[in-house]
Amino acid sequence: MTSQALKQSFTDIFGTKADATFFSPGRINLIGEHTDYNGGHVFPAAITLGTYGAARKRNDKTLRFYSANFDELGIIDIDLDHLVFDKADNWTNYPKGVIKFLQEAGHTIDTGFELYVKGNIPNGSGLSSSASLELLTGIVAEELFDLNLDRLDLVKIGKQTENDFIGVNSGIMDQFAIGMGANKQAIYLDTNTLEYDLVPLDLGDNVIVIMNTNKRRELADSKYNERRSECEKAVEELNKELDIQTLGELDADTFDQYAYLIKDDNRLKRARHAVFENQRTLNAKEALVSGDLQSFGRLINASHVSLEHDYQVTGLELDTLAHTAWEQEGVLGARMTGAGFGGCGIAIVAKDKVDEFKENVGKVYTEVVGYAPEFYIAEIAGGSHVLERK
Ligand code: GLA
Repeated sequence: MTSQALKQSFTDIFGTKADATFFSPGRINLIGEHTDYNGGHVFPAAITLGTYGAARKRNDKTLRFYSANFDELGIIDIDLDHLVFDKADNWTNYPKGVIKFLQEAGHTIDTGFELYVKGNIPNGSGLSSSASLELLTGIVAEELFDLNLDRLDLVKIGKQTENDFIGVNSGIMDQFAIGMGANKQAIYLDTNTLEYDLVPLDLGDNVIVIMNTNKRRELADSKYNERRSECEKAVEELNKELDIQTLGELDADTFDQYAYLIKDDNRLKRARHAVFENQRTLNAKEALVSGDLQSFGRLINASHVSLEHDYQVTGLELDTLAHTAWEQEGVLGARMTGAGFGGCGIAIVAKDKVDEFKENVGKVYTEVVGYAPEFYIAEIAGGSHVLERK
């Protein structure tokens, strides 16, 4: 969407002129799933699918929000002096949370504004439309109110919104990938120290195909929080003998030696996933850096297997996509991406096999699941940014 088109849509809705326009990406995760809240490594990348915005500062205390993705809701007005979670306010809870926490961090946002948003991340697809919107709100406030905002602080405020305003106990991966993304690079992030490397995503003659199950991530939030507490409980049990804060601190050998302390089968599987997935992420980064795409692909497959059997966050839809993808010619690797329970998978596919891939995987999926999946080619993008300054 061009800045011009955004400004026009803004005026059509609000009858005023936008001060500035913005873009905030979505993300995929190459590998390192359900490791971020376990103090492990993740390897995500921002993508060109994302959320566009246009905004104008007001003189009063009213925030006026409109999303082209929820046009049936019309304009939602929020009082700047009353920023509390309200289910009825729907998607605007995300920007509300971000503004509230920006204010609490000492940033002056003393008037309302109008915000028009339009996203092309399929809703509920697990490509982080919510983190995209959180970071979008952050850069809107930064621009309109001349805030002096450190990007990492904004990333943390996005996470805080998710955790303390919306109530999902997620880690920092999504907001970090979206806030810190760089063109054609993946982000290898240690979620414990927040140290990171940008790694060129050089896949030779291959592309990343995003496979959308078209199954909404229902129940995802409660299951997500459940997995997180299972891991925390496993840490408590391991700490009868060890002294660790997170599973990310353990290598595979140490985990093996102390796994007997975990008294429940499910918790053992969850913890094993977190420890081994962290190791796989490290190995995958090294494989990518050294150009060993075959190993990189196999690690991606192994990640799916572990998420399917140990972490148990896949389901028929994601499993059908991954398993069918593995059987196709020209596929280096395939797995679910994001939280799971529906949403999207990714596959690394030879450019000249992509059409065949979509057709074959689409056919099997439709037969098994009863409705069609969708495919998009992932283009790796930069982080949230202003399109046209005020
Ligand atoms: C969601 C969360 C992230 C991360 C992934 C799983 O996307 O928002 O923090 O935990 O699930 O890797």
